[in-house]
Amino acid sequence: MRICQTIEEMRAACREAKRSGKRLGFVPTMGALHEGHLSLVRAAKASCEVVAASIFVNPLQFGPREDLQKYPRDFDRDRALLEKESVELLFAPSVEEMYPPGAITWVEVEGLSDRLDGHSRPGHFRGVTTVVAKLFHIVEPDAAYFGQKDAAQLAIIRRMARDLNFPVEIVAGPIVREADGLAMSSRNAYLNPQQRKQALVLHRSLLRVKKLWEGGERDLARLRAAGREEIAREDSVRLDYFEIVDAGSLEPVVDVADGALVAVAALVGTTRLIDNVALDASHGAR
Ligand code: PAJ
Repeated sequence: MRICQTIEEMRAACREAKRSGKRLGFVPTMGALHEGHLSLVRAAKASCEVVAASIFVNPLQFGPREDLQKYPRDFDRDRALLEKESVELLFAPSVEEMYPPGAITWVEVEGLSDRLDGHSRPGHFRGVTTVVAKLFHIVEPDAAYFGQKDAAQLAIIRRMARDLNFPVEIVAGPIVREADGLAMSSRNAYLNPQQRKQALVLHRSLLRVKKLWEGGERDLARLRAAGREEIAREDSVRLDYFEIVDAGSLEPVVDVADGALVAVAALVGTTRLIDNVALDASHGAR
């Protein structure tokens, strides 16, 4: 695996890899890799001849009181995991390399960026779209892989790629969960054993709503209330949002139809966790 730390080196390596017409797949990450990330790498491997990944803890997408400083970082472990998956190229730039002093340009998907996590974390999504746009320009991938775990991020990146004509196919990977249902996340490392158990309420609340929906309930207020009530049962978990939205526009749905997204965010102690489930009549609960 070739590791590139500068934009110039990464761009040249990606162009070289694509020269003979090879399909280049790209998996952007912030590191602290787990099976969720690796599932995206495997999906890229399965349909691309060359796979590039990036590890960059992007300061632009963290709020002033968020966990930028303590975000888990273990480059050697991450590198070994990516090597094991036979990733060809790894981009691991410094903050100075990505954001030289004086950079003042942002990429923002208006409207969508203010919904769900964007509502609770102002500026978060414009930080994400700005870095992903930069990464797309550096890597110039044919396909880029994002997890359904961050469903709002996925919708926003799809919209950015469409609106700005990025010649890249955005591919979504399913949520990878621990055996007991907790969605894998780099932030799960912050949880103590008690909080780790309490965190299961997020998935439980989603499954409760999904079950009601599969039983024929279509009323938004009743479905949402059921999810919120489930979260409220866990005293030490503080709900941020529990919403049922259109998966593309992220707007609340009136009629909870097939394809709607049930999304939750909650604080377990000081750790903010998110999870979601799609309402899909053709599949069982995941
Ligand atoms: P990060 O949180 O490291 O996640 C990188 C990718 O892994 C994202 O597409 C995310 O949705 C996916 N992912 C995380 N947990 C997952 C899980 N349990 N199952 C499936 N996929 C999962 O998301 C980011 O980084 C950043 O915002 C980034 C896009 C890299 C821009 O900085």
